[in-house]
Amino acid sequence: RIPEPCALVIFGVTGDLSRKKLLPAIYDLANRGLLPPGFVVLGFARRDWGHGDFESMAYEHAKAHARTPWREEVWARLSGNMKFVGGAFDDDAAFDNLASTLDELRDSHGIHGNAAFYLSIPPSAFPTVLKQLARTGMADNERCGGWRRVIVEKPFGTDLTSAKSLNDLVDDVFTGPDVFRIDHYLGKETVQNIMALRFANSLFEPVWNSKYVDSVQITMAEDVGIGTRAAFYDATGTARDVLQNHLLQLLALVAMEEPTSFDAAEIRAEKLKVLRAISLPKDIKAGTVRGQYLQGWVAGERAKGYLEEEGVPQDSNTETYVAVRLGIQNRRWAGVPFYIRAGKRLPRRVTEVAVLFKKAPHLPFNPADVEALGENQLVIRVQPEEGVVLKFGSKVPGTTMELRDIAMDFQYGEAFTESSPEAYERLVLDVLIGDRTLFPDAAEVEQSWHVVDPLEEAWEGVKPEQYRSGEWGPRAADEMLAREGRHWRRA
Ligand code: BG6
Repeated sequence: RIPEPCALVIFGVTGDLSRKKLLPAIYDLANRGLLPPGFVVLGFARRDWGHGDFESMAYEHAKAHARTPWREEVWARLSGNMKFVGGAFDDDAAFDNLASTLDELRDSHGIHGNAAFYLSIPPSAFPTVLKQLARTGMADNERCGGWRRVIVEKPFGTDLTSAKSLNDLVDDVFTGPDVFRIDHYLGKETVQNIMALRFANSLFEPVWNSKYVDSVQITMAEDVGIGTRAAFYDATGTARDVLQNHLLQLLALVAMEEPTSFDAAEIRAEKLKVLRAISLPKDIKAGTVRGQYLQGWVAGERAKGYLEEEGVPQDSNTETYVAVRLGIQNRRWAGVPFYIRAGKRLPRRVTEVAVLFKKAPHLPFNPADVEALGENQLVIRVQPEEGVVLKFGSKVPGTTMELRDIAMDFQYGEAFTESSPEAYERLVLDVLIGDRTLFPDAAEVEQSWHVVDPLEEAWEGVKPEQYRSGEWGPRAADEMLAREGRHWRRA
């Protein structure tokens, strides 16, 4: 799968995402031989830079964050086809310059007018950049004689209304199939494996329903705090930052019906049905928990409290942790709670989906011998230690019939010699190829806001619970499950 000759234009090329993820991903793709000959990277940013400044910044960051071994000759080939265009987003001359650079590349590099525009910029800058792309005809497939695509990074709005206007804005300039919304969780190998596990095997699907499943827990724990992103994070909070996108996408993949084929439209249609079937707790305050981290210790290091982070207002009510109990109103999942939690400054970084099965209806053993027996669990470990674990009861070796839980453990690192591409590597390649399978569409994005908006509304003005950095969130989150006779899995 090698794309046609094309250019990738990165707006905001000096930003964090570009330095840590995009430029290294481009290098890795080049190193794996997955980029077409004549592939061009055009960096755009408000800097008074010459080509040399851009090239040395790109070199430093690609080298620091590349996943594949560093090879100078690969970089030399790539960087020979990198160009920088400096200017502000409202600078007509800079955009005219970009347009004529792309026109020239059509012949000089044989890119046939093919180009993808990566909007790695704050959403507030989208309207200006999109208008410029329209004004200069750069978004016009016909005028350019090739394909023109746009890549939009999350956050996809801050609520349903803003998401709709963002979608309308993008749709005014690009046609639907040319718009790629990036949710980088869908680029993760383990997330794609959810579909393989469910639909390539006959073992799991028969028990993947309310008859056998007691509950599902989805955890996205991070040990890091908000770092230097106070302005963004304080205006956003955990629910908008990761529940609206990554976590609801994970839920959709776990709960959806089998698509009729592995085709973008079919998969999106099935995910959308699940998102539409999500039900919120009747009493949102009782069925959700929001938390904010206090100072504490994480992995042996002292961590500041959220309110002490630079740039966070002293009276901030923004959550850094969220736990919510969702339901899915369809025949497969009626009555099965989906407990979802995400937070910063938790004890460790782990993302997993755990399917917890009902206990065996009858245990023909001595009750004292089965005390250490929990429920069967299938745990999809998204990261780190990527893999799948199946937990079930087994006889403890010895002369009695004592039973205990054991784990059957599949780890990517052990099972495969092939290395996983980084999420952005996979997704950038898919955009250049034009494969939309791993990109949520506008309807999914809007439907996810239908889930998150009522939560935000109910939380308005409510102080989050506190939890110490390095703990698994507020006590209220444990109590929420305890009220239903359950507890969080130790992730
Ligand atoms: C981003 C969020 O989308 O995902 C961040 O904005 C979060 O707050 C990050 O830290 C986590 O991504 P990953 O791939 O490290 O799990």
